[in-house]
Amino acid sequence: MIRRYLSRSLLHAAILFAALPSVAQVCDSAKQDYEPVSPSADFPAPKDLLAKWLGFNPDPDPGTGEASDYSKWQAMDIPRLRRHAWMLWAGLTADSKLPRPVDAGEPAAGLLPKWETWYRAEDVLQESAGHLNTEKGNPPTSVPQLLLAFPRELVNLKFASARSGPGLAPRRDNTQVVAGVLYNRPTCEHVIAKRLGDPVAKDNMLRNGLREIPAFPDRDSMALKTVWMYVPHDGCEIVPVWDGIPNEPKATHYQPAEWPRSIVVKTSSTRACAATGPAVDLNDFYWRELLSQLEVARIKDSFPSARVGDYMILVGMHVITKEIPNWVWATFWWHDHPDYGQFADGRPSQLAAAWRHYLMDVAYDMDRPWQSTAQPKATFNPYLEAAFEGGTRSNCMTCHRRSVWPLPAARETLDSQGELLQPGQIVVTGSEASEATYLPEFRKSLKLSFLWTLTRVPQK
Ligand code: HEC
Repeated sequence: MIRRYLSRSLLHAAILFAALPSVAQVCDSAKQDYEPVSPSADFPAPKDLLAKWLGFNPDPDPGTGEASDYSKWQAMDIPRLRRHAWMLWAGLTADSKLPRPVDAGEPAAGLLPKWETWYRAEDVLQESAGHLNTEKGNPPTSVPQLLLAFPRELVNLKFASARSGPGLAPRRDNTQVVAGVLYNRPTCEHVIAKRLGDPVAKDNMLRNGLREIPAFPDRDSMALKTVWMYVPHDGCEIVPVWDGIPNEPKATHYQPAEWPRSIVVKTSSTRACAATGPAVDLNDFYWRELLSQLEVARIKDSFPSARVGDYMILVGMHVITKEIPNWVWATFWWHDHPDYGQFADGRPSQLAAAWRHYLMDVAYDMDRPWQSTAQPKATFNPYLEAAFEGGTRSNCMTCHRRSVWPLPAARETLDSQGELLQPGQIVVTGSEASEATYLPEFRKSLKLSFLWTLTRVPQK
């Protein structure tokens, strides 16, 4: 009897297990460390409200009684549109319950911001492809280890500068950046449930005639890309500061090493510092200490002198939210005088110390909010996109809309003015140009809801 009972319950357990083939380990809601942006009056914003601030007015023209295009789109409310992105920043950077990890014996460094409790794209994509690699005793749900790498979209530039012959100045180490991608829980759950990191699943979707992946849940799906530079713990480091496109632009791209101004970051243990320039305290940045050989090994390529105990400083962050179907596109970057200029406008007062050092710009699609000259909106993060050809005219969504499966081989294409672009140069301006320059094979591919990370093939 007992035996029969046992074997039946084992059978039940087996059935139950088989019925739940993809129990999400990475973003399991039973794990408590995760902290979302707290829902508030500001987030998630109803899409109709965002449309209204963008100037959409469905009321008929009072003169003709007809809803013409002109009458539908009226004045934008730029302060409200900016405030929305700032409130996202406030929500993301609010304290979580987890302490910021520092080496034993060092003074406590306060709490991690909420976004640090989110899920690393690498872990989520691996689980969704059926091969979770918990990195030898580093379960992805504990305090997140830094998993940073040279940004994929800049790889061509890196190779170009490594190849640079005589006449081209060698790059300075410290002007490189490394980046990492995090998803919030709704994004994580969707990637896993729909197996969006799995090449086979995406091939099957294509074979079944789909041209788009199943849509991410509207409103609260989010993703982040964080951008970092390096500071040694007892030395100092030169960090270039972006003061905007020079008055007499000589180029369309500016690698940080070419920016005219920089500051010198010092830590409380700085002893020797050969660099000259205005000194800035480490605590004016959000920073993380490198605490394991694993974290160091991942960035060695970009920062050969990095050691355990040194610091990574956050110089920029991209944030997207699915409050509107094609996502809201916001970006934040560090500045030593963060209270001046259009990118400081509207910063809310409740931000804690270091978080006030970041400037912001936001785009709500490929064109809007239109620039003062009625040009499509250019939105870029200088620490990432200023480096590539056309980057200071770029817009997040015109590049991200090219994220498809399978990723076509780099091909020459046309830019907004109809000029031929070389492979790897992918800046077009505005929605019209973007349509006109779309590569034909995109129409036959699977659109990945603008997420570039979904083009990755996770390693087993
Ligand atoms: C030239 C193309 C390009 C432009 C312009 C660009 N990005 Fe990206 N973005 C990428 C690539 C490539 C990745 C990373 C893919 C990876 O790490 O696998 C990425 C990653 C991201 C991610 C992580 C989520 C994901 O899978 O896409 C976010 C969020 C993001 N970018 C936001 C932005 C924002 C906001 C802007 C504009 C301010 C922007 N991007 C401009 C190419 C671009």
